[in-house]
Amino acid sequence: MTKEINQTIWHPFTQMKTAAPPIHIERAKDCTLYDEDGKEYIDAISSWWVNIHGHCNSTIAEAISDQAKKLEQVIFAGFTHTPAKVLANSLIDILPATFSKVFYSDNGSTSVEVALKMALQFWHNQDIYQKTKIIAFENAYHGDTFGAMSVGAKNAFNAAFSKHMFHVEFLKVPNSENIDQVTKEFQELIEQNDVAAFIFEPLIQGSNGMLMHEPEYLDQLISIAQQKNVICIADEVMTGFGRTGRNFAINYLENTPEIICLSKGITGGFMPLGVTVCAQYIYDAFYSDERSKTFFHGHSYTANPLACAAANASLKLLLDKSCQAQIKEIEKSHLAFINQIKNLSNIKEIRHRGTIVAIEVDTTEGSSYFNTIGKDIYNFCLNEGVLIRPLGNVIYIMPPYCINKLELEKVYSVLIICLNQLKKEK
Ligand SMILES: Cc1ncc(COP(=O)(O)O)c(C=O)c1O
Repeated sequence: MTKEINQTIWHPFTQMKTAAPPIHIERAKDCTLYDEDGKEYIDAISSWWVNIHGHCNSTIAEAISDQAKKLEQVIFAGFTHTPAKVLANSLIDILPATFSKVFYSDNGSTSVEVALKMALQFWHNQDIYQKTKIIAFENAYHGDTFGAMSVGAKNAFNAAFSKHMFHVEFLKVPNSENIDQVTKEFQELIEQNDVAAFIFEPLIQGSNGMLMHEPEYLDQLISIAQQKNVICIADEVMTGFGRTGRNFAINYLENTPEIICLSKGITGGFMPLGVTVCAQYIYDAFYSDERSKTFFHGHSYTANPLACAAANASLKLLLDKSCQAQIKEIEKSHLAFINQIKNLSNIKEIRHRGTIVAIEVDTTEGSSYFNTIGKDIYNFCLNEGVLIRPLGNVIYIMPPYCINKLELEKVYSVLIICLNQLKKEK
């Protein structure tokens, strides 16, 4: 049964006509996936960046199992439950003091939709109708729903929907060379007082190539935005929960955004969950005797108790000294790896922050998700028992925090062999 290609499934981000049959995974433990033939793969990308504690972590599994025997789901309007209360309190405890209200949804895209709607309705509820514009960064990715696509880069992934997206002003990501120009453009964009919100992936733009920027320049923009009453939304769906070496990427900033979107690592990869956390003053604009000021948004699985129980267990593991030390260890190992490969001739750039290292391979095709080298690298590594998923010519490692030295060494050495074998096509 398992060997057959299932004719009833349509896989995501997959050209079903040309893609190789999917590998059937039978079980997984920690950093290792086991396929139906018993072949092992080190999951060096935490399965789309979610499994921060590896697979089948027994603490999280037990938390879900215990919760499943008590309460598996309940409508979250008019009702509440302990796992949701505990999680909200814990998130508020570890986030900067600006944040005080937690709104639940069920994935990264919905956490972004919620943030955008919250920001837009915040102004609407106060009869400030001109503040409707949104600013985002070029090369952004915020998800696949319509609002999230609208604030993301326009490319082949969303070309078919371009007429149905709302208008967004896009700004270059600031760096040491363009900061003056970007600041000027940003100031011009917001001077009419018609901008509702500025959304960004802080420090790392993940899906569009693990592009990284320095906190000081982002800080500068946030500070300008805040002087002009523009709500700043940090999309930490990817960067949240230790990925950047700190609990959140915004922990590197002096200026705290007013809304943060979280998902992916929140449940340690066990259950889908999204949260959007906002400042008290945003919540206050919805707190009213007028029903029309209500935030009319919700999903069937909002604050699912099993997902919240998983998140509570995952958060506890993350905050434990041993996990924090492990994050530092991965960071140190990445630095040593970078040292080893930095002089390879076919590398255009190496980017690194925290547990993420990205290698942009130099090819004549140029940097793009559709660069064909990505597929060759993917297949080579898979064959060697390492799962990575290059973004075109950008290879990256984003391992579960429980990865051990041997596993990490194997990932590095497979990548080094792979990089050495790639012919420099220039
Ligand atoms: C920064 C960012 N925001 C939002 C999303 C969308 O999350 P999801 O795939 O859970 O909808 C992603 C997914 O990769 C992401 O990287």
